[in-house]
Amino acid sequence: MTARSCLSIILAAGEGTRMKSALPKVLHKIAGLPMVAHVVRAAQSAGSGDLAMVIGYGAEQMREAVPAFVPEAEIFVQEERLGTAHAVLSARSAIARGYDDVLVMFGDTPLIDPTALADARARLAAGADVVVLGFRTENPAGYGRLVEKEGALVAIREDKDCTEEERRITFCNSGLMAIAGARALSLLDAVGNDNAKGEYYLTDIVEIGGARGLKIVAAEASFENALGINNRAELAGAEAIWQKRKRQEIMLSGVTMIAPETVFFSYDTEVDPDVFIEPNVYFGPGVSVEGGATIRAFSHIEGATIGPRAEVGPFARLRPGADLGEKAKVGNFCEVKKATVEAGAKINHLTYIGDARVGAGANIGAGTITCNYDGYSKFFTDIGAGAFIGSNSALVAPLTIGERAYVASGSIITENVPDDSLAFGRARQKTLPERAKLLRQRRADAAKK
Ligand code: UD1
Ligand code: CA
Repeated sequence: MTARSCLSIILAAGEGTRMKSALPKVLHKIAGLPMVAHVVRAAQSAGSGDLAMVIGYGAEQMREAVPAFVPEAEIFVQEERLGTAHAVLSARSAIARGYDDVLVMFGDTPLIDPTALADARARLAAGADVVVLGFRTENPAGYGRLVEKEGALVAIREDKDCTEEERRITFCNSGLMAIAGARALSLLDAVGNDNAKGEYYLTDIVEIGGARGLKIVAAEASFENALGINNRAELAGAEAIWQKRKRQEIMLSGVTMIAPETVFFSYDTEVDPDVFIEPNVYFGPGVSVEGGATIRAFSHIEGATIGPRAEVGPFARLRPGADLGEKAKVGNFCEVKKATVEAGAKINHLTYIGDARVGAGANIGAGTITCNYDGYSKFFTDIGAGAFIGSNSALVAPLTIGERAYVASGSIITENVPDDSLAFGRARQKTLPERAKLLRQRRADAAKK
């Protein structure tokens, strides 16, 4: 990357009416991350330098949300939404500090590719004053058209302001622009609002710059990169493209998926080589899976770490704080929350383990429940290494079960069990010989009457 200084301005003041949502559009998520955060990440990997976020609609929600994914962003409020140039000028004081490059991005184009941003910056470094990222589409309605003369970009005409001839142009404005920092304020200040929408269009700086003899260039990106999200159908479309890219990246890094189209990842999912993933698995945010692990079908995993050669599922649910050690097993219809399952421990069927530690090599029988909640507070269950918990036991926390201890099946355990001891937490069985036969006979006699 060049050593040039850079300011990235992300426009996110719009309401996004067509989302029909109480949430500002750019906070809707793709792969578990707000779409505007995807834009931030792309900018950061292109060496974005300082970040300015222009907010307006839903400013309160935005102020709350933005620091979570970009704490260092400078926030500017655009009080009135008078157009994209006006929005950029909300960050006037940042631009005025003086940068080599100013990048303008829209918060609702989450699939923007960092290489396209880096390329635009490289063109500034090579002497361009304004770089516009365009894309081609057979269906350009609604987009600004890139008007070229003799191969040079001379104007961007908004859809509503196009002549019939211009409307037929299929080379469109993605919204991404790179501007030589030294020119930025003078260009933006020259923008007027004499157009169909009565807005200050950022796109007008192309014509203004051209008239000043500046070097204005168009770069081309794929349609996917420029995809702007306006409604929930487009949101789902972008999610699908993101998932497809991620699956490809994950498979090429050495992970096997037999039906990749049914496996869903989050923006931060980490999967090491030689992990095997069966169909229909969902990874929420905060998951890492180490080499050799197997994730069986229909598992739902979030906020969990899965150690080397561990096995999860089928039909397992790992909730935040589930931490599985090497070769640990969490099988069908088990839920694990905020619990460490140490190396080689087995929780094979129909179990809830929450707020707990399951020591190395312990075996948790089917139907075991850690009763971690009394309706007011949560309590911890500590199960020692090598312990054996018989099926259908209720472990009432707070509780410590010692190493190699044995809990008889069907127990309700309310008191600590020391190392190596055997605990029965249930009533003794009573057996009445011949009683079943007697009852059957009585019923038969009654029926005869
Ligand atoms: C804009 C471009 C158009 C391009 C299209 C790509 C302009 C004038 N037009 O049109 O050439 O083809 O995007 O999707 O730039 N915003 C603010 N404050 C404002 C106005 C807009 O922050 O006052 C933000 C919006 O939240 C959004 C972005 O700027 O993130 C684009 O605004 P929008 O109104 O969607 O522009 P388009 O009409 O789609
Ligand atoms: Ca738009």
